[in-house]
Amino acid sequence: MNSTTGDELKSWWMPFTHNRYFKDQPRLIASGAGAYYTLVDGRRVFDGLSGLWCSPLGHSHPHVVAAVQRQVATLDFCPSFQMGHPAAFSLARRIARLAGRPDDRVFFVNSGSEAVDTAMKIAVAYHRARGEASRTRIIGRERAYHGVGMGGISVGGIPANRKMFSSLMIPGVDHLPHTWDPARMGYSRGQPDWGAHLADELERLVTLHDASNIAAVIVEPMQGSTGVLVPPRGYLQRLRQICDRHGILLIFDEVITGFGRLGTAFAADYFGVRPDLLTFAKAVNNAVVPLGGVLVAASIHDAFMAGPAHMIEFFHGYTYSGHPLAVAAAHATLDELDGGGLIRRAAALAPVLESAMHDLRGTPLVTDIRNLGLAAAIDVTPVPGQPGLRAIQVFQRCLDDGLLLRFTGETLALAPPFIATDVEIRSAVDTLRRALVATAAQAGQAP
Ligand SMILES: Cc1ncc(COP(=O)(O)O)c(C=O)c1O
Repeated sequence: MNSTTGDELKSWWMPFTHNRYFKDQPRLIASGAGAYYTLVDGRRVFDGLSGLWCSPLGHSHPHVVAAVQRQVATLDFCPSFQMGHPAAFSLARRIARLAGRPDDRVFFVNSGSEAVDTAMKIAVAYHRARGEASRTRIIGRERAYHGVGMGGISVGGIPANRKMFSSLMIPGVDHLPHTWDPARMGYSRGQPDWGAHLADELERLVTLHDASNIAAVIVEPMQGSTGVLVPPRGYLQRLRQICDRHGILLIFDEVITGFGRLGTAFAADYFGVRPDLLTFAKAVNNAVVPLGGVLVAASIHDAFMAGPAHMIEFFHGYTYSGHPLAVAAAHATLDELDGGGLIRRAAALAPVLESAMHDLRGTPLVTDIRNLGLAAAIDVTPVPGQPGLRAIQVFQRCLDDGLLLRFTGETLALAPPFIATDVEIRSAVDTLRRALVATAAQAGQAP
C-alpha cells in the first residue's frame, strides 16, 4: 500500500511519535489542498486538526503559495542581527495592531517553544532592568504545554514531557493547579461556570515564595494540547487581578489560540484580559514556514532601552528571526484571516462544532466533551491496563474512514480549518461517532 519501505523509514527518529508502532503501520501524507490531505495510497482525509492546530486556511492556499514563491525569488534570507528587511517591520506592526495594541513590540522567533523561552527571558530581564533582580521565579500550571525548550518544559505541566529531564529543568518555578474537574464541569458547553476560585491558588504561591521573587505567571488561556481544557468563567480575570496586585507579569501562551481559533484575533480579546506578554506561532502564517513571536507590552520593551544607544539592549535572538519566507507567508495569511474574514468565519462555525460534538454525549466510550471556539475534545474510557491505546484505536478508525484528528492520552481533539463548511464539520463528527461505536463493539462494550 505504501511505497516507502521499512528500511527507508528507519533513519528519521520522529518527534512525539510511537516510532516502532508508526513504522510498523506507516501513515504517510503525499499532498494537501484546502481542508484535505491525500495519503500516499490516494485516499483523501479531512484535516480535522488544521495540521497541528496551525493551518486555519487549509493547505496550499494559492495566496500564500504565491507570496512565498515571489519572496524566495526576491530575498531568500536576510540577517536580522544588525540588518533588517521592510516586510518584517510591517508584519510586527500589523500583528500589534491586530491585537489592538499598536504601541507594543513584536520579537520574532521560529516556533512556539522559542516564543515561550523568549518570553520567560524577557520577563526576568525586565525585572532586573528595573532593579528588581530577585524576581526570577516563573509560575506555570499543571497540564500546561509550553513546548519543549528547557524553559517550556519547566513551566509546563505534562508529566511525560518532564520526567526524563528533571536535572535539566530550570530551578525556581512552581505550578498552579489545572482547572479541569470532571465532577463539577463535565460536558460543559464553552466555559464552565465552576472554578474561578482556582486562580486564588496564585495568592497561596505568592505567600509561599513572596512576590519579590516572582517574575511572571504563564498560562495558555485555553489549554489546547492537553485536551481543550477551557478556563472557568472569571478565572483568567482573577489571575490578572492577582498579578497586578503583586507586580507579577502575566504571559498568555497563545501558540494555539492566537490568530482566530476562538473566533477572535487572540484569546486575550475573547476573554477581555490583557496579558503583558503574549506568545504566538502556528496560525500566524498558516505554518507554511516556521514562525513564532512574542508580543511585548511597550512599557516592558521601554525598560530595556536604557544605556548608550549603540549597545545591544537584549542579548537574544535566532539566525532565522524574521525570516523573509516566513514573513511573506504571514502577510498573506493575515490578508485572509483578517481582511478575508476567516476569523469571523471561525466564530460562525464554533456553534456548529459545539452542537455536533455535544450530540456525541451517550455514545459508547465517551466520558466527557469540551469545546471553545473552533476547538473541541472528547475523553474516552481507557483500555484497562493499557493507557492511551483506546484513543489510538478510535483515531485509526477515523483515519480509515477519512478523518484525521489528534489523540493524546485518552483524549481526541478536533480543531478544523476555518475554511471548512458546516457540512464538513458535522460529517467529521459523524465519522468520529461511527469510530466510537465500532471500537466499543469490538471491545465488547456496546450498550
Ligand atoms: C500553547 C503552546 N505553546 C507552545 C507550543 C510549542 O510550539 P512548537 O511546537 O512550535 O515549538 C505549543 C505547541 O503545540 C503550544 O500548544
